[in-house]
Amino acid sequence: MMDKDAGKKRAAEEAAKHIERGMTLGLGTGSTAAHFVDIVGALVADGWDLRGVPTSEATRAHAERLGVSIIEPNETTIIDLAVDGADEADPSLNLIKGGGAALLREKIIAHAAKKFIVIADKSKRVAALGAFPLPIEISPYSWALTVAALRRTLSENGFDGAPLELRAHDGAPVKTDGGNLIIDARLGRIDDPAALEKALAAIPGVLECGLFCAMTDMVIYGDEDGISIAS
Ligand code: 5RP
Repeated sequence: MMDKDAGKKRAAEEAAKHIERGMTLGLGTGSTAAHFVDIVGALVADGWDLRGVPTSEATRAHAERLGVSIIEPNETTIIDLAVDGADEADPSLNLIKGGGAALLREKIIAHAAKKFIVIADKSKRVAALGAFPLPIEISPYSWALTVAALRRTLSENGFDGAPLELRAHDGAPVKTDGGNLIIDARLGRIDDPAALEKALAAIPGVLECGLFCAMTDMVIYGDEDGISIAS
């Protein structure tokens, strides 16, 4: 069986070749992005001048432990390179993200970055997005109204009756770092992710969905044998 973690690490090492001294880096969230944060920490320990903009409190704590200088998103408008993981990536470099509930912050940083590189083990490569339930971050204010609007929009976009689940842990709703809720939508194959992303973004109360379309410059896939790059 493939050692997924070896693939994640290889992909992170390949992405690190894009780091230059003096860069401000967007630091993603999750087990794959954590390998990249480890490498950034090692470079900083070697005297490289690098700063990180974290996409979650977990990543912030990890980067701080390694001595990486943290830049708050409001303290800069320049992010030279953002590197993050993904739950699925298709041949057009469209993604599903948000398995770690950090999608809103991740999308803000990926969008702002001059270059956005995704790192993943090869199991994340799919022909079409949608087997992974689509995370949708919503405001807790009147969430029932937002979910009703979501059902209507999904129905209009060919996903009538798709199961929607409020993400919960130990019986309590999962709260994102920003205090929001996550709805996981089991859609199955998504033929037009860009159209769906646009439709979901138009719903008041939806803060972001986990579709990241036309945003990625490169996906680096790793496995035990090596890496492959889609760009
Ligand atoms: C967090 C994310 C992660 O990047 C995604 O879930 C992949 O995680 P991992 O690298 O642990 O497989 O989008 O919101």
